Amino acid sequence: MATVDDAYGRPLRDLRLSVTDRCNFRCTYCMPKSVFGSDYRFLDRRELLDFEELARVSRIAVGLGVEKLRITGGEPLVRRDLEVLIALLSELGVDLTLTTNASLLPRKAEALKDAGLTRITVSLDSLDDATFRRMNDVDFPVARVLEGIDAAEAAGLPVKVNCVVVRGVNDDQIVDLARRFRGTPHVLRFIEFMDVGTTNGWRLDEVVSAREILDRIAADAPLEPVAPHYAGEVAKRWRYADGSGEIGVISSVTQPFCGDCTRARLSAEGKLYTCLFAVRGHDLRALIRGGASDDELEARLRAIWSVRGDRYSELRSAQTLDPEPKVEMSYIGG
Ligand SMILES: C[S@@+](CC[C@H](N)C(=O)[O-])C[C@H]1O[C@@H](n2cnc3c(N)ncnc32)[C@H](O)[C@@H]1O
Ligand code: SF4
Repeated sequence: MATVDDAYGRPLRDLRLSVTDRCNFRCTYCMPKSVFGSDYRFLDRRELLDFEELARVSRIAVGLGVEKLRITGGEPLVRRDLEVLIALLSELGVDLTLTTNASLLPRKAEALKDAGLTRITVSLDSLDDATFRRMNDVDFPVARVLEGIDAAEAAGLPVKVNCVVVRGVNDDQIVDLARRFRGTPHVLRFIEFMDVGTTNGWRLDEVVSAREILDRIAADAPLEPVAPHYAGEVAKRWRYADGSGEIGVISSVTQPFCGDCTRARLSAEGKLYTCLFAVRGHDLRALIRGGASDDELEARLRAIWSVRGDRYSELRSAQTLDPEPKVEMSYIGG
């Protein structure tokens, strides 16, 4: 099979598909209400790639070496009939996963599994109901997210749980979350709060480092390191010394991993981004709707990837001063 390497020799292996820029939550670190309020202009339905267009780009990307597709957003489950897209993508025979806030999972889990979803990642930042409601900022109760996780498990979907830690907001939840998922089949992963986009008021002193997160958990239950599953694995893996399971930490701020990054992201309107922190994307929708053939699309993808030189996180301190606004996480897809 054809493959393509970027300017630093990194292959294209993962494609994240944002299926909507909308969300039913307003997480304060992602879509603060002050910006994403009632007068915010979200993409119009016609601007979104339709399921056939998404499946076509995915098929071409798989032909170039992509082994993993992740559906994200915004909140992917607010896109109507998402299971129809899952069914189309499952025909490609690669790892197919989805990241969700789980609010709609109790009624969607089975259809997603039946359509061919391989795994699911649920975002959950706190077990404390008041903290959780404050963070999602739409007063959504944590119990319903836990129901969503149960529904995914009952449907036979392997579940990972992601927690973004923000100092002074939910860092008191680290040990409680670890205890809650210890001894379950669900792998909990903590993510350092990142300076994605420009609207979340990110400050370095709000980042709780992966080291500090691990130290706090290890003080409660000793941990030992686990070798990565594969080169380029984003989360560093640790297991409980007593054999009661595993956790992960994603240290994108304190120990950047650009050197291994094999991910491309497609925004809901069909712009391809070669880095989460990119300022602009490459418009594939114009090509698709302009009648480009599969060969032309493949050549475009290859041309974009082969000159890719992004390593934002490794250059963070210099580039945070960049006056150009970075794209928002809810637009590009987490
Ligand atoms: C943008 S969301 C999209 C999918 C879905 N709505 C969800 O929340 O799972 C994907 C992931 O990005 C994470 N995220 C959003 N903003 C972030 C930030 N500033 N730093 C780190 N992670 C962030 C979220 O917590 C979530 O796990
Ligand atoms: S993190 Fe996910 S659930 Fe929260 S606002 Fe962003 S897109 Fe929505």
